[in-house]
Amino acid sequence: MAIVFLAIWTVILQAGFSKTMHITMNDKIISLIDFSRKNLTTMPDVLHNSTTDLYLQENHLHVVPAWSFRKSRILKNMDLSDNRIRFIEHGAFDGLNELTILNLRSNLLTSNSLDENIFQGLISLQDLFIHKNYFYDNYTFFQTVISRVKSLVKLKIDLSRQNQIDKCLCNLSNLQDLEIFEVPGLTLSDNLFQNLNCLKIETLWITSVLSLAPNTFISFPNLKTLRIAINTGYAMDDVISNIFNALKIFKGRNMTELSITGNPHRNGFVLGHPHFAILENICLQKLNLVGDSILGVKFNPFLDMDLKRIV
Ligand SMILES: *[C@@H]1O[C@H](CO)[C@@H](O)[C@H](O)[C@H]1NC(C)=O
Ligand SMILES: *[C@@H]1O[C@H](CO)[C@@H](O)[C@H](O)[C@H]1NC(C)=O
Ligand SMILES: *[C@@H]1O[C@H](CO)[C@@H](O)[C@H](O)[C@H]1NC(C)=O
Ligand SMILES: *[C@@H]1O[C@H](CO)[C@@H](O)[C@H](O)[C@H]1NC(C)=O
Ligand SMILES: *[C@@H]1O[C@H](CO)[C@@H](O)[C@H](O)[C@H]1NC(C)=O
Repeated sequence: MAIVFLAIWTVILQAGFSKTMHITMNDKIISLIDFSRKNLTTMPDVLHNSTTDLYLQENHLHVVPAWSFRKSRILKNMDLSDNRIRFIEHGAFDGLNELTILNLRSNLLTSNSLDENIFQGLISLQDLFIHKNYFYDNYTFFQTVISRVKSLVKLKIDLSRQNQIDKCLCNLSNLQDLEIFEVPGLTLSDNLFQNLNCLKIETLWITSVLSLAPNTFISFPNLKTLRIAINTGYAMDDVISNIFNALKIFKGRNMTELSITGNPHRNGFVLGHPHFAILENICLQKLNLVGDSILGVKFNPFLDMDLKRIV
């Protein structure tokens, strides 16, 4: 379906102390509504029954009220990231049977902000981005809420030192793409991830890495793409060696894309470094090394590797 983009320049009537903004619109098909970066503090009443994409990111919204989105049942993509949302009312997302992408990144959500069934009606939801929030107060509860969104394919969550991935996420049988935003201070190991071996995760992103144990990736037998962003400020001196040790597990497997970024130490990739011997055993197609850690790469090892692209 062609996405009709109509910027809405219509008059905004903000009546007195009314908490809601009302927008007058022509009887047009309005597929995309972009109210991002408008300094909104309350949920605007802008939806049209033809709206499929709603952008409300980078405002100052505090609450998502019940039935906020009742005017469009065909909403597919909603961005509420970078607001100050502390509370999502019971039924806020009710009726959104077609919602596929929901972005709640960078808000002030805790486990008290949500009710257990808040996402239950989102039967088409594939991508949920809910990282950079504050669910650590009751991470078990948070994971229970997430585990009910059985249609999820892609998930972005936080994980901190005292938390662990729960078995309940096994219910996300379609999940393929997991991005974990780590709160600094953690050495990653299989202890954190072992409950994920019930899933067929193909893409894993981990950020803010300080250090990794050799068994970190044992529970990801189906991994094809691995992206590791090192915590530039606090990474251990031997973080790169840790990472390559952990990669040994992929020997003989089709781990086709590897990305390592942000190593602050000038010890990462030097000519003919033995790290590359580990890569030779993995069926890599794409290698992405970014940061000031690259002192020079000897390309000879790659000649044997059927490497399609080195970025
Ligand atoms: C939002 O508020 C900031 C700071 O008060 C101001 O500079 C900016 O112009 C405002 N943006 C809009 C779209 O009103
Ligand atoms: C959407 O609203 C317009 C009037 O605003 C109406 O003519 C049309 O039938 C509505 N479409 C649906 C699918 O409800
Ligand atoms: C987490 O939330 C659940 C459900 O609200 C509650 O039963 C449990 O006691 C909470 N746990 C903690 C540690 O607060
Ligand atoms: C998966 O969901 C079902 C209900 O849909 C629940 O009974 C079961 O405990 C869940 N599994 C796990 C491992 O939490
Ligand atoms: C790797 O991929 C190739 C081509 O898709 C396939 O033939 C081979 O069986 C795969 N190997 C493993 C270990 O999965």
